Amino acid sequence: MDKKANKMLLLSTLACTMLLVTGIFSLAAGEVGYVGSEKCKECHEEIAASHAKSFHAKAWTGKGEGYGCESCHGPAGDHVNNPSRETIISFGKESKQTAGEKSARCLSCHSATPSVSFWDMGRHKREDVDCSRCHSIHKQSRPEVSEPETCFLCHKDIKRDANRQSHHPIIEGKVKCSDCHNPHGTLSHGMIKAENINQLCYKCHPDKRGPFIWEHPPVEENCLTCHTPHGAKSSKLLIQKRPNLCENCHNGRHPGTPYDATAGFNGSASPSTKLKFVGRSCLNCHNQIHGSNAPGSAGKSFTR
Ligand code: HEC
Ligand code: HEC
Ligand code: HEC
Ligand code: HEC
Ligand code: HEC
Ligand code: HEC
Ligand code: HEC
Ligand code: HEC
Ligand code: HEC
Ligand code: HEC
Repeated sequence: MDKKANKMLLLSTLACTMLLVTGIFSLAAGEVGYVGSEKCKECHEEIAASHAKSFHAKAWTGKGEGYGCESCHGPAGDHVNNPSRETIISFGKESKQTAGEKSARCLSCHSATPSVSFWDMGRHKREDVDCSRCHSIHKQSRPEVSEPETCFLCHKDIKRDANRQSHHPIIEGKVKCSDCHNPHGTLSHGMIKAENINQLCYKCHPDKRGPFIWEHPPVEENCLTCHTPHGAKSSKLLIQKRPNLCENCHNGRHPGTPYDATAGFNGSASPSTKLKFVGRSCLNCHNQIHGSNAPGSAGKSFTR
């Protein structure tokens, strides 16, 4: 069995276990205020009909009374006697419940879904973004999230970056926000899907991983010393134009003090033909900026 199949098996086993647990819970709770889905149809005919075609309704087929409207909306005993938004868990804009109360309904099953298991560590939970802000349960047959549109609703600054001249191909659909982030939360900083920044970048840019004979320390340390993840005004997602970028750290090096016939390259007496490149870019010569395996001084200075 391959890894993916294994994961699917694990997922469905977990889901089944949780269903069982919730099922028992719901049935037991039936005594304290659950009325069953049939009852809802009396007043919410349209939405009940559309819900029957939803992903969850299908996933729950044959599971019995414990699985239905109240799995998400909570026990409705009070609600049917005194119908209002106050007496039921609702998810829309005018909901009277807290984000925590809403998410708790979904988590009663999905705290066991592996990708959701670090919800409590995530930024969205802290910012009161509940599950239904991203997942539409009644509208679609599958409660998947359209990216990047859904994310852009709140992350205008990222939208702006993603439209800059140089950007990861997010709007082109080649890279998704969720390729790099787990919006539910992770153990790592920034909800990224890796232990740290560099491990994330290596997933898709393995050539930058090395090991190199000659390593450029900032590259090993953090790719974001020079790059920005979403988009930049400078080419190649660089935080700054060259040579300014390099001169943050290499101030006063040879290009800092222009050489001429008397003060040649590297202090040599003879004028260097390399002089004509200086005005352009450090990368014209130091083109192996992420590290080099070439022997000798050319490797050491990342020119080869
Ligand atoms: C006797 C009629 C009646 C029954 C039965 C009933 N509801 Fe309601 N429900 C209402 C009314 C009235 C409202 C308030 C609508 C409003 O304020 O616009 C409401 C509101 C809601 C809302 C909030 C809607 C919103 O726009 O935010 C949800 C969710 C809801 N009901 C779910 C249920 C579920 C689930 C059941 C079955 C377990 C159920 N209702 C049974 C009459 C009923
Ligand atoms: C898997 C969770 C889930 C189940 C099951 C579920 N709902 Fe909902 N319901 C939601 C969410 C989330 C929303 C907010 C709108 C959306 O996501 O589509 C919602 C919205 C509503 C609304 C408000 C109308 C609106 O468009 O905002 C009503 C009324 C409602 N549900 C009734 C029901 C009834 C009746 C059932 C059973 C037939 C049911 N729901 C089953 C999660 C659920
Ligand atoms: C009673 C248990 C239960 C509740 C409550 C519940 N779900 Fe689910 N959900 C499931 C099951 C079972 C599946 C199908 C198996 C799976 O993918 O885990 C599922 C699948 C999903 C999926 C994955 C669909 C896909 O693309 O594979 C999403 C997203 C989801 N649920 C979101 C929610 C949200 C949001 C809520 C709360 C509004 C919620 N669920 C409430 C049981 C539940
Ligand atoms: C900020 C937006 C956002 C919020 C909030 C959010 N989700 Fe998701 N969810 C996503 C995206 C995007 C995906 C698809 C991720 C992927 O493919 O890796 C997803 C996928 C899922 C899946 C399918 C997971 C799988 O591995 O197949 C489930 C289940 C789910 N979410 C449940 C929830 C629950 C429960 C909550 C609330 C506790 C929640 N989500 C809150 C954006 C969100
Ligand atoms: C309902 C609004 C909302 C939606 C939709 C939303 N976010 Fe957020 N998100 C926030 C808020 C608020 C913050 C905290 C402030 C900030 O960093 O902008 C945040 C923070 C983040 C962070 C920073 C995490 C950290 O630890 O600093 C990431 C990454 C993120 N969101 C990714 C996403 C992705 C990916 C999506 C789409 C799948 C998404 N968000 C959809 C509101 C939202
Ligand atoms: C190529 C990987 C990648 C993609 C794709 C990506 N991000 Fe990020 N994102 C990152 C990294 C790396 C950080 C920095 C995390 C840190 O500070 O530790 C970050 C940071 C963030 C932050 C925190 C605030 C900030 O500006 O630094 C938010 C919010 C965010 N991303 C949202 C998104 C959204 C929304 C999308 C999709 C439109 C997205 N990201 C796509 C890698 C990515
Ligand atoms: C999910 C895969 C993925 C991850 C993770 C990823 N990238 Fe990329 N990256 C891409 C793709 C796809 C391109 C576009 C390649 C192309 O068009 O040839 C790209 C392009 C780039 C470019 C060139 C941009 C340009 O304007 O030409 C840079 C620089 C870059 N990535 C840096 C990073 C850094 C730094 C990280 C870690 C924060 C990272 N990438 C993480 C997929 C990824
Ligand atoms: C010291 C600054 C610096 C650091 C740190 C850095 N880069 Fe770069 N990177 C550059 C420069 C400068 C370019 C542009 C090269 C060019 O124009 O030929 C570049 C270009 C790229 C490109 C696009 C061109 C190519 O070579 O594929 C990718 C992808 C990339 N870097 C990924 C990474 C990753 C991944 C890391 C972390 C492991 C990283 N960079 C760390 C300076 C840096
Ligand atoms: C965040 C700081 C930082 C940035 C930005 C940076 N470097 Fe470096 N660079 C270093 C450090 C630290 C060393 C190692 C110095 C040592 O070993 O003496 C180094 C080493 C080098 C070396 C090899 C020096 C030798 O010993 O031969 C070259 C060449 C170099 N960098 C070029 C560049 C270029 C070109 C850029 C711009 C694309 C750049 N660096 C950006 C910090 C930086
Ligand atoms: C015309 C080609 C060329 C250009 C342009 C160039 N360099 Fe160099 N650089 C070299 C060569 C060749 C060496 C190695 C000299 C040696 O080994 O004696 C070197 C050495 C270095 C060193 C290590 C030498 C030392 O002083 O320890 C650093 C740091 C460096 N360059 C940074 C830069 C930066 C930053 C830029 C852009 C502002 C730049 N270089 C532009 C060719 C160039």
